[in-house]
Amino acid sequence: MLVEAKKDIFSQLIKEATHDELVWMNGFLAGLLDQNILSSAKAGAGGAGAAAVAQVAPSIQIDKLTLLYASETGNAKSVATKFAAATKKKGIKTKLASVEQYKLTDLVKEKYLLLIISTQGDGEPPITAIKFYNALHDETLKLDKLQFGVLALGDSSYPLFCQAGVDVDKALELRGGTRKVPLQKCDTDYASYADNWLETALNLLSGSNPGESGTGAVKTSVKPPAAGSHKKIYEGTVIANFNLNDRDSAKRTHHIEIEAEDLAYAPGDALGIVPPNPAQVVREVLSLTEVDPQQTIAWRDQTHSVEELLSIKAQLLYLPERVVRKYAEIAGQEIPDTRMSLVDLLKIYPLKNNQEDFMQVLQILEPIAPRLYSISSSPEAHGDEIHITVAKDQFYVGEKQETGLCSGYLLDVPEETKLQFYIHPNKGFKLPPEDKDVIMIGPGTGVAPFRSFLFERDALGAEGRNWLFFGDQHIASDFLYQTEIQSFLETGVLTAFNGAFSRDQEKKVYVQDRMRERGAELFEWLENGAYVYICGAKEPMSFDVEKALTEIIATQKELSFVEAGKYLENLKEEGRLLKDVY
Ligand SMILES: Cc1cc2nc3c(=O)[nH]c(=O)nc-3n(C[C@H](O)[C@H](O)[C@H](O)COP(=O)(O)OP(=O)(O)OC[C@H]3O[C@@H](n4cnc5c(N)ncnc54)[C@H](O)[C@@H]3O)c2cc1C
Ligand SMILES: Cc1cc2nc3c(=O)[nH]c(=O)nc-3n(C[C@H](O)[C@H](O)[C@H](O)COP(=O)(O)O)c2cc1C
Repeated sequence: MLVEAKKDIFSQLIKEATHDELVWMNGFLAGLLDQNILSSAKAGAGGAGAAAVAQVAPSIQIDKLTLLYASETGNAKSVATKFAAATKKKGIKTKLASVEQYKLTDLVKEKYLLLIISTQGDGEPPITAIKFYNALHDETLKLDKLQFGVLALGDSSYPLFCQAGVDVDKALELRGGTRKVPLQKCDTDYASYADNWLETALNLLSGSNPGESGTGAVKTSVKPPAAGSHKKIYEGTVIANFNLNDRDSAKRTHHIEIEAEDLAYAPGDALGIVPPNPAQVVREVLSLTEVDPQQTIAWRDQTHSVEELLSIKAQLLYLPERVVRKYAEIAGQEIPDTRMSLVDLLKIYPLKNNQEDFMQVLQILEPIAPRLYSISSSPEAHGDEIHITVAKDQFYVGEKQETGLCSGYLLDVPEETKLQFYIHPNKGFKLPPEDKDVIMIGPGTGVAPFRSFLFERDALGAEGRNWLFFGDQHIASDFLYQTEIQSFLETGVLTAFNGAFSRDQEKKVYVQDRMRERGAELFEWLENGAYVYICGAKEPMSFDVEKALTEIIATQKELSFVEAGKYLENLKEEGRLLKDVY
């Protein structure tokens, strides 16, 4: 490739270079190729080319980088994976790991760390990050060598935007780490913010400052946190809403169909909805405070009438302790550190200057958090319809049985009602190639995405085999989508089906028991490359199912439980064991 004279110079340069210099050169050349500069520069060797090279020369001097991610639905993982490909291309030796698999003892040895973390629940880290998160709060941990940056993924519709990222960023600094890259909070439109942040992060970790390159070509500023959610909001019409449980059931699970235009989703995604507050609760608040419902108020960058704010924007029920504490300050009262509804607060701890103080109270209220429902329809089979499967969430407060806000609302929503919703993509729960087998384990509403999978695979004529494990209390009253499942069995779309109806016999039987009974066959499917999906209750179902899988592998492959656990971990790493649990 090179003429003799150039080859000599090149060989000499390499021979005399240190390891770090080689890494730098590698990154430098990768950077040039990345930006297609070399090809355009080639024509004028030494002239235009040299100028172009000077323009882009990023002084990437990071020898080894650790990229950690903490993800629940795959977004942080896909960002981290993309980052790893980019940094490797730049010649940086990159270690990519989930915080779940990362050896915590390695943290003290790290020099350069970039962490991508999402927020779940009410401002909590993903379940995979709990161990890591707790370890960071150990005061004996000293991370003096560490230079770090945190990219926080979140959704500004939730009250605590990117809170897990904020907490981890603080904790890493508290443990002695140096925050080289400012925290970047990202909303649902995170892709471009993430790319920009990585570029900035690499420059900052390399120690280059704006202007240092002499060209201004190196970006070191981070875009400000995204403000406002940028999700596409659909307006659909409810076209069906009926109970899937029979009359004798202790449960109520509704199949809801919504018609909407230009739907774009994939099997495995969820539908997000912000439920309104019950009209009765809004009336009670208005009557207790005697405030004019039509009075307008500026609230979180928007203007609303008080009535609108109370009806569809602000959380009024089961307020978190942090809001109750702020209420106590406004009311000038001592209130126990506990969750309460606004109505109870107003009744038990009345405001002194009712209307005036209430305007302050409105400002401390948080937005109603969205609720997600696994989509149970298939884009291929159901066109302009989107279906969800909603269980009535019932619980006791003292002696009184209460119903969850969103499930209660959805179960009673009449046909023809207009509903606003958005699609929550789940990159970590997608169908495999059409020729692959799938094993689906989804008791209760966990069956929802598998209804979508089955309709989709049927419509596409996918040749891979499908096996469903479903469970609930009674076969007679709780076999959700029974006729559809039977029809899929008859047409051969479902190769196998196992039902576990826990209360139809003396000894309770669950999906994991059915899996154990079919252990040999299940293992054969696994060895044959099958993908395993688990959906439904996080606790205890998903843990019990993983345990059963480990036991099956141990028995069938004659491995110890620990070795079988590694087999399972490998499945996860290969993307063949996927969970969507809540
Ligand atoms: C990815 C994902 C997919 C999901 N898919 C489905 C699905 O397909 N089908 C489905 O049915 N659900 C699904 N869910 C769960 C769903 O999003 C909701 O969490 C569920 O419907 C409960 O919401 P809610 O508004 O009815 O209850 P909430 O009002 O949010 O109450 C939730 C819980 O908070 C507590 N609580 C609330 N108010 C009080 C109070 N006053 N006093 C004491 N405790 C209280 C109770 O423990 C209650 O169970 C999914 C969740 C996720 C994250
Ligand atoms: C049940 C649930 C709760 C969430 N809670 C929050 C939250 O409190 N704050 C926030 O900023 N984002 C919250 N999010 C949004 C996620 O952080 C966001 O969708 C992110 O892109 C998910 O990344 P992941 O797929 O890597 O987990 C929540 C999402 C879900 C599904």
